[in-house]
Amino acid sequence: MKSFYYALLLLLSITSCKDNTSKTPEKIIGVTAKNAMVVSARTEASAIGTTILKQGGNAFDAMMATELALAVAYPYAGNLGGGGFMVYRLNSGDIGALDYREKAPMAATKSMYLDDDGNVIPDKSTLGGMAIGVPGTVAGVFAAHDKFGSLPIATILAPVIALAKRGVIVTEKQAKRIQDKRKLFQEVNKDTIIFDADWNVNDTIKYPALANTLERILKEGKNGFYQGDVAKTLTAFIQDNGGIITEADLANYEAKWRTPVVFNYDDLKIISMSPPSSGGICLGQIMNMIAPYNLSELGHNSTKTIQIITEAERRAYADRSYYLGDPDFVEIPTEMLMSDAYLKDRMSNVSLDQATLSSSLKHGNVTLVESDETTHYSIVDQFGNAIAVTTTLNGAYGSKLYCSELGFFLNNEMDDFSSKPGEPNMFGLIGAEANSIAPQKRMLSSMTPTIVEKEGELYMTVGTPGGSTIITCVLQTILNVYDFNMGMQEAVNAPRFHHQWLPDEVLMEPNKFNRETISELESKGYHINEEDAPIIGRVDGILKLKDGTLEAGADYRGDDTAIGF
Ligand code: DON
Repeated sequence: MKSFYYALLLLLSITSCKDNTSKTPEKIIGVTAKNAMVVSARTEASAIGTTILKQGGNAFDAMMATELALAVAYPYAGNLGGGGFMVYRLNSGDIGALDYREKAPMAATKSMYLDDDGNVIPDKSTLGGMAIGVPGTVAGVFAAHDKFGSLPIATILAPVIALAKRGVIVTEKQAKRIQDKRKLFQEVNKDTIIFDADWNVNDTIKYPALANTLERILKEGKNGFYQGDVAKTLTAFIQDNGGIITEADLANYEAKWRTPVVFNYDDLKIISMSPPSSGGICLGQIMNMIAPYNLSELGHNSTKTIQIITEAERRAYADRSYYLGDPDFVEIPTEMLMSDAYLKDRMSNVSLDQATLSSSLKHGNVTLVESDETTHYSIVDQFGNAIAVTTTLNGAYGSKLYCSELGFFLNNEMDDFSSKPGEPNMFGLIGAEANSIAPQKRMLSSMTPTIVEKEGELYMTVGTPGGSTIITCVLQTILNVYDFNMGMQEAVNAPRFHHQWLPDEVLMEPNKFNRETISELESKGYHINEEDAPIIGRVDGILKLKDGTLEAGADYRGDDTAIGF
C-alpha cells in the first residue's frame, strides 16, 4: 500500500518536468493585477473565470465557470463526477464554507472492501464501479450560485460549453499523464474511451458528449444532473460496471453549508475547511503548535524549522487518524483538539536533539465535549470577495471509469474512507472508526481551501492538490509569506517537505534542500525520503499586497496559470 501511495505521488510529479530553471531568479514575482484574479490548473479555466468576472460576475459566478471549465480542460482532476470544498470571504468580512464532498451510496457497508477473511481487497476502493462515491460537484456549483451568484447560468455556461465543443489543446504534461494511465483505462473500461488513443502535444481533444451533458445542466439546473435522463444513464452505466449507486442516491445528494474552522496565528486570522475535511483542524493544530517558536529567526527550511514543523505535523496527523470523520456521523472534539492547553501538552515532549518516533506516539487523549487527483483554484473578484476551492476525483482520473455517453470520469473517493482500521489508504493515511464506511456518510478529506485575513483585511486565498500532503503544503505557503517574507509566487515555488505521522519519514522534494540540513536531521533520527515525491503539491494562491495589488502564485509544478485584470 505504501508503494501505491508513493506511486501516486510520483504520478502527481510526472507532470512536473516543465523547465523551471528560468523560474528561480532572486526575487520572484507572480502575475499581478489591480482588480481581480483567477488562478487555476489550466489556462483555459482561468481565462473563462476571468471572462465571467469581466462580464460583471462575482467570485461565485466565476467559481461555477472555472470549476466546470476545469471539468472540460483538466479531466485529470477537474470534474462533474467528483466533489470538493469551497471557503469564502465576502467583501463585508462574512465567511463561510461549502461542502460538496461525495457520499457513500445507500447500499454501502462497512466491510464492502474486505474479503471473507477480513483482508482489504486490492484495488476495489480505487478502480472501477465500486470505488465511486455519489458525486457532489454539480450540486456544489449550484449551491454557491443560488446563494451568491449574480449572472444567469446561461451566461456562465456559454464559454464552458463552447470550450467543450471547440476542444482543448493537449499540453506536454497532459500527454504524459494520459499515456501513463492508458493501460488502466483499458483495464477498467469495457469500451474504448476517448483518452485511450495516441494523444500528442498540441493535439486538440473535443468533448461533444460532455458539451451535451452541460447543455442539459444549463436547461434543467442541478436536476439536469441528479434526476432525469442524465441520472438514469449515469446509474445504469455505474451499475453495469459493478457499482452500487442508484438513482435515489443521486436524487438525495445535497451540498451542505458548513461553518469553517477559524483560528489565529500571530496577527493572522485563518479561515479553513471544516470536517468532513481534516484540513482546517489539522492546519490549526499545526500552526498552534509551532506558534511559540520564532521561525523567521530560525530560518526558512533550516534544520530547526523543519524539526519543529515536522514534530507538529506528526502529532496533528496522529489525531487526524483517530478523531476525524464526517461530522454528520461522528462527534468530533474540535474545541479540545484545537485548544492551547491540549496542543501545548502535545508538544511538551518535543526535543530538538532527537526526533520523536511515530511508533511511540498515538493520538492524544481528548475528552469529548458535549457540543460535538484533485485541483485547487483561487479567485478574488473586483468587488473584493475571495474564494478558495479544492475539487477532486481523488486519484488521477478518479476510478478511471469514464462514462463516454455523458463525457466524464467518475471519482474513486471511497478510498478516502478507512476500509479497515490500521490499514493505509492510497495516501498511506491510516484511519479508525471515525472514518469507517456507512451509507450516506462523507469520507474524510485532507483538502484545505484556506483564506487568510491580516488586520481584518483579506490577505490571501490558497490551496493545493496532493492527497495527504495538502495540509502541509498550505501550511508552508502561508509560513513562507508571513514568517519568511516571500511574495506569493516565491512562496509557491519554494521547496516543500511533508510528514504525516505514518510512515515515519520526512518526504522532501529531491535535491532542493541543503545537504548539511539533511545530514543534521538524519543524525537526530529523522528518516529523510527524497526518492518518492519529485514534487509535493501544486499550490495556487492569491496574495493581497499592501497597496491592494493582487499577486498570484501559480505552481510551476503543473500547467497552472493566473490571469487577472
Ligand atoms: O480528499 C482528499 O483528501 C483526497 N481525495 C485528495 C486527493 C488528491 O489530492 C489527489 N491529488 N493530487
